[in-house]
Amino acid sequence: MLMKIKTLPFLLAGFSTVFAAICSNGKTVGNAACCQLFPLLADLQENLFDSPCNEPVREVLHLAFHDAMGFSIRGGVGGGSDGSIITFASIETTFPENTALVGVIGWVTPLIARHNFSDGDFLHFAAAVGIATCPGAPRPNFLLGRPQARAPAESGLVPNASDSVTAILARFADVNINPSEVVALLAAHSVAADYDTDPVIPGAPFDTTPGIFDTQIFTEVLLRGVLFPGNGSNVGEVLSPLRGEVRLQSDFEIARDSRTACLWKELVGNQARMQSQFKAAFSSLSVTGQNTAAMVDCSDVIPIPAPVTVPPFFPQGFTSADIEDFCPSVQLPPLSTLPGPAPIVDSA
Ligand code: HEM
Repeated sequence: MLMKIKTLPFLLAGFSTVFAAICSNGKTVGNAACCQLFPLLADLQENLFDSPCNEPVREVLHLAFHDAMGFSIRGGVGGGSDGSIITFASIETTFPENTALVGVIGWVTPLIARHNFSDGDFLHFAAAVGIATCPGAPRPNFLLGRPQARAPAESGLVPNASDSVTAILARFADVNINPSEVVALLAAHSVAADYDTDPVIPGAPFDTTPGIFDTQIFTEVLLRGVLFPGNGSNVGEVLSPLRGEVRLQSDFEIARDSRTACLWKELVGNQARMQSQFKAAFSSLSVTGQNTAAMVDCSDVIPIPAPVTVPPFFPQGFTSADIEDFCPSVQLPPLSTLPGPAPIVDSA
């Protein structure tokens, strides 16, 4: 894929010099090793992420998250963001937390076979490319160089929606992710949908704009819950403010817990802050258990996402009076209310 290496020296702070390369498709990258990613990028764009922020985007991101959690700073439970959830799919998809991921592994398997990357590089590159198709997303970083996974992760390492905030924060701390990063990572639920928590309404999103990587999740999870959108209360589900929208117990509690409520409220209506915090936290998540010193920064291969065009809002019928405020010291930004009656949120 590399056509020629042009020695374009870029002087960086500290006077170190790096050399850019021009790949055969005419794109300039900071490191020639990154050129090999362009055929995979094109394949993903044509054959998996062929519309912005689609179901494969959500499912690949979900898969990458579950893969990343297969690690502990104390060692011994898995290789983290190493693609083991694909390499050892026959084992890891028997874990209760991963049974719903069989389908997406089937979707990505032919793409993996057409390229020459480790399963970990494939998965975490695909997740970054997928996020970048969502309007409003930050441009994720991507580091190349994960060795092929050597062993499956253990079961039980991914938090459940019914877990306590203490248990959730402890599990993330064990992969080196702090509470502020946990809150920022939950921006992923702005483009997510639910299939298993309440199976009678498959595809029910967690906010009113599942096709946009925005801050609505942070606003809408703070609205007072009044109904169950499906067949009543399920494990891990709590009252939702809107018909058609599922609310996870974990999102609800993280938004209200004294350790995380202010971090959550700071992201309400603040797209720029959400983007920068998600980008940083997702960088960490995508390299859990990896030796980043041996990896090459190929972030410049990731496309630049389209901006979000709709300003943050309260859904129809809601105002700041409907917010359950667990952090009075943080001011809510002024948000206008969409006109009309309260909506029934469409499945994603
Ligand atoms: C507190 C930790 C978390 C819990 C308890 C949690 C729980 C859940 C649950 C229960 C679902 C619905 C799954 C289904 O029914 O199909 C879901 C969906 C999803 N989650 Fe999370 N999650 C957490 C953190 C994250 C993080 C850190 C990410 C990524 C950065 C993420 C990305 C997603 C995505 C993309 C989906 C949608 C999958 C789809 O549409 O098929 N989650 N999550």
